[in-house]
Amino acid sequence: MDPEIGRSIVELKMVRDINMDNGNVYVNIALTVAHCPLAKTLQADVESAVRKLEGVRSIKVETTTMSRKELEELKLHLQAQASPSSPSKSGAGVAPGIERLGKRGLRSIIAIISGKGGVGKSFVTSALASDLKRRGYEVGVLDADLTGPSIAKVLGVSGKPFKGPGGSIVPLRTRTGIKVMSINLVLEDPSMPVVWRGPIVNSVIRQLYWEVDWGDLHYLLVDLPPGTSDAPLTVFQSLPLDGVIVVSSPQELASMIVSKAVNMAKKMDVPILGLVENMSYLKCPGCGERISLFGDPKGEKLAVELGLPFLGAVPLDPAIARLSDQGRIEDYSSPIIASIADELRIRATKQVEQLTQGLPIAWSVEPGH
Ligand SMILES: Nc1ncnc2c1ncn2[C@@H]1O[C@H](COP(=O)(O)OP(=O)(O)OP(=O)(O)O)[C@@H](O)[C@H]1O
Ligand SMILES: [Mg+2]
Repeated sequence: MDPEIGRSIVELKMVRDINMDNGNVYVNIALTVAHCPLAKTLQADVESAVRKLEGVRSIKVETTTMSRKELEELKLHLQAQASPSSPSKSGAGVAPGIERLGKRGLRSIIAIISGKGGVGKSFVTSALASDLKRRGYEVGVLDADLTGPSIAKVLGVSGKPFKGPGGSIVPLRTRTGIKVMSINLVLEDPSMPVVWRGPIVNSVIRQLYWEVDWGDLHYLLVDLPPGTSDAPLTVFQSLPLDGVIVVSSPQELASMIVSKAVNMAKKMDVPILGLVENMSYLKCPGCGERISLFGDPKGEKLAVELGLPFLGAVPLDPAIARLSDQGRIEDYSSPIIASIADELRIRATKQVEQLTQGLPIAWSVEPGH
């Protein structure tokens, strides 16, 4: 049995080679994760199982690692097997460990969604990433918005990502060390419109996750385009998300638009960590009075209506627009962003704990682990 996933290694297609010569047995096992902390346990289990067989004089167990592609195929295969008719990510019958298969060194994968465009998803994504990085966490940002270069731009990264020694793509790093990968960094001219059709969107997003060497991260934040189109759907279906954050603004005329995005997350069984209202109000620089430019802030009420935790209201702040334009959003800090990041940390940790309950591996989301 794979100690982490709780299934037979034969079923998981991990047995690569078996050789027997005059009672000397050689077994090669492909691990689902390189440097898997449980590899030694697995090796010892195989050795003791083989030793019990008649005629075995010696046993040697070696390990290799599955390629990302093999891993993804395996995951899809197991999911399809467990729930052939259910579109949900963790349909009935899927052993909890299978969700861990695609995680590699990533501890908490969180997508940022909204109903409407321009509400500040990319800002919230990059500001949270900056805050978490400042606290010592390893953070990555995956730009799943294929239509514009906003994430790379606000985080001030440019240049082309390159291929590492193993053939995987090395993400770019921001000044403070946040890893960033965006298809817009790869395009010849990011200002040229590209028509992304459904299947291409699907494959590009999968590549941004599977073919990029994200390494060990505490948080991978996924910035999505607005709404419930192909890209958000692909992210929900093919990345092992731990949760989503919903961003709204008081300009949204109907809560229906937000609830569409919320319902998509619910349908796909992805936990919603909470709602952030951005551009909530303007603080007068002279007297400090709160001016509600778009009518009364309604985030908190909306969160209650939708049954979501309310994570906080972010004011309109000229510094945000200025620092975004200059590619220096990492310099932005505010008490409200810090408190949202705190909530995110607490809720994401709980989520990971719940997912891994009963698994013999200690997942930790604290820096330095
Ligand atoms: N609280 C804020 N105060 C001032 N400007 C803001 C604030 N939040 C976002 N902005 C600015 O508003 C614009 C839109 O924000 P952003 O790009 O983050 O939205 P988005 O939801 O990601 O948009 P899209 O749907 O196009 O991806 C940007 O120019 C950004 O700098
Ligand atoms: Mg955006």
